[in-house]
Amino acid sequence: MNVLPMPVPRNFSILPMSPADIEQVSAAEKKLHPSPWTRGNFADALAAGYDAQVMRDADGRLVAYGLVMQGVEEAELLNLSVIKEFQRQGAGALLCEYLLQRAKAMGALRMFLEVRAGNIAGRALYRRLGFAQIGQRRGYYADADNRREDAIVMEKTLSG
Ligand SMILES: CC(C)(COP(=O)(O)OP(=O)(O)OC[C@H]1O[C@@H](n2cnc3c(N)ncnc32)[C@H](O)[C@@H]1OP(=O)(O)O)[C@@H](O)C(=O)NCCC(=O)NCCS
Repeated sequence: MNVLPMPVPRNFSILPMSPADIEQVSAAEKKLHPSPWTRGNFADALAAGYDAQVMRDADGRLVAYGLVMQGVEEAELLNLSVIKEFQRQGAGALLCEYLLQRAKAMGALRMFLEVRAGNIAGRALYRRLGFAQIGQRRGYYADADNRREDAIVMEKTLSG
């Protein structure tokens, strides 16, 4: 499905993630997240049919990736990640908008997500895209040193 190609900066393109992307995506994931998804997690997500998308620049370099789990009238944004050198150039917002549009086209009325309470960039991005906080899960995340961090649960309505 190709939903609404948007003005994409610097000829970035967005294509469905394939098994051939997993090696590169999981290497990037380790650099971007305190509790990274493993290769197996990505493979399972693809096998489960989650909406997984990869953004690349004109030279084929990995810019960003994101995954959405589609449920009945609901979708959950499971992962949204932008490679460090491409951050703060609009890629995260663009990919998230794209995933929102795809979820809506597949019948979702709302999108949920969880983000670490201390993730300033993520929370600011999601607020800017119209997500609102609907809950907080105490100590939901653990890092490698077993420090706990709250999850902020956010929702965006997709109808209208
Ligand atoms: C969160 C993340 C996806 C943002 O992606 P990005 O491409 O850098 O974000 P954008 O350039 O699209 O920014 C859109 C808006 O989000 C907000 N934002 C993004 N990064 C920010 C930061 N570091 N500090 C404050 N606000 C930020 C701003 O409002 C920004 O708009 P502006 O640049 O006009 O001020 C990226 O920082 C990332 O991949 N981080 C590591 C993984 C992660 O935390 N993912 C999210 C939780 S799963």
